[in-house]
Amino acid sequence: MNIPLLDLTRKYRQIEPDLRARWDETLTSMRLLNGPQLAGFEREFGAFCGVQHAIGVASGTDAIFLSLRALGIGEDDEVILAAHAPAPVIEPIFSVGAKPVLVDKAAGDYGPDLGSVRAAISPRTRAILAVHMLGLPCDMDSLVRLAGENNIPVIEDASQAQGAVYKGERAAGLGRITPMSLGPVKNLACYGDGGVVLTNDDKLAESVRLLRVHGQAEKYNHKIYGWNSRLDELQAGMLRLKLPTLDRDNARRGEIAARYDDAFRNLPLRTPPVFSDRTSVYHQYAIETPDREPLKKFLDAKGIGNGIYYPLCLHHHESWIAKKLPKYSLPEAERYARENLALPVFAELRDDEVDYIIAAVREYFSRD
Ligand SMILES: Cc1ncc(COP(=O)(O)O)c(C=O)c1O
Repeated sequence: MNIPLLDLTRKYRQIEPDLRARWDETLTSMRLLNGPQLAGFEREFGAFCGVQHAIGVASGTDAIFLSLRALGIGEDDEVILAAHAPAPVIEPIFSVGAKPVLVDKAAGDYGPDLGSVRAAISPRTRAILAVHMLGLPCDMDSLVRLAGENNIPVIEDASQAQGAVYKGERAAGLGRITPMSLGPVKNLACYGDGGVVLTNDDKLAESVRLLRVHGQAEKYNHKIYGWNSRLDELQAGMLRLKLPTLDRDNARRGEIAARYDDAFRNLPLRTPPVFSDRTSVYHQYAIETPDREPLKKFLDAKGIGNGIYYPLCLHHHESWIAKKLPKYSLPEAERYARENLALPVFAELRDDEVDYIIAAVREYFSRD
C-alpha cells in the first residue's frame, strides 16, 4: 500500500463539481477581491467560531503580523511563546520590531508551560502567543488568567485547530485576538494561501480591517500605513463550500485518532494528550518515541507517509542562531522535537488504510 501523510486530491474530488460552478460564477463576474464571497465567508466563519468579527487576510503569517500591529506591539516589546512551534509564528514578531521570548512546552500538553510563562513575564512583555499545536487547544483559562493578572493580552494562534473545542466553545476568540492560517494543509484549507483574524474586540477588528487595505479608510485616503493582505474571492468562495463539512471531517479525524490510541495503548510510545474538556481536531496525530528514526524508516519502507512537527525548536533554527539570539535549554520542547512522528489522520483516509498503519506500527514494536 502507498498511503500519503495527507492526500488533498480526495477532498477535491468530493467538492469538484460545486467548486467549479462557484469559481465559474466568480470568474464570470470578475469580482476578484473584497466581494460577496469574502463577506459571506467572514459572516459564516465568524458565526461558526462564535466570534463577532472574522477578517479574511492573505495568510496565517499576515494574520499574526496584523494582530501584533493592531495590538500596537512594536520596537523593544516582548512576546512570550513556546519553543515548540512552526517557524512562521516568529517572523511577524521580528517584523514589528519586537523580541520573542521562548519558554518550554508543558509536559503532557502541547501548549506552553505555565510556570515558564510566569517566570518569563517582564515589564516589557506585551503579549503571550499561545499556539494550539497539532489541533489541540491550549489550556486557555490558565493562560488568560495569568495574562490578565499582568494586564497583557493572549494572542491565540488557531492555525492548526479550525473547529477545535475548548470547554464547550470553539478554540477561537478565547484570547484577545485569534490569527489563523487557512493554508493548503490546514483542516479548513485554501487551494493556495489564505488566513483570517478573529476577535470579539471591535477596536481591534477595525484596526485589522484598516491595516489589511494599506490603512485606507476610504479609497486613496490612507489613515495609517498598513499592509496589503487580502483573502481573494476564489479562495473565500471555496472555503464557504468546505465549511459545512468541517465538523464532520474533524469528527472523522477524531475517530481515526481514537482507533490509533486504542491500538497503541500497550506499545512503548506516547500517544497525543487527551483532555475531557478539550476536543482536538487532530491536525496531526503524532506519537512520541525515542525510536523515532528507525520507526520512520520502517514506515517509509511500508509506504506509509509520516512527518515530523517539528524537528527543530525555534531556538535551534539557523535563522535564530545567525541572529545571535539567546541560547535556551528547554528540555521538554527539545525532547518532543526529537521524538515526535506524525501518522496519516486526514478525514478521507479509508478504514483499510488505518488498519494497515496500525498493523505496521504494531509490527515494528513487536520485532526483537
Ligand atoms: C501555527 C501556525 N501559525 C502560523 C502559520 C503560518 O501560516 P501561513 O503559512 O498561512 O502563512 C502556520 C503555517 O504553517 C502555522 O502552522
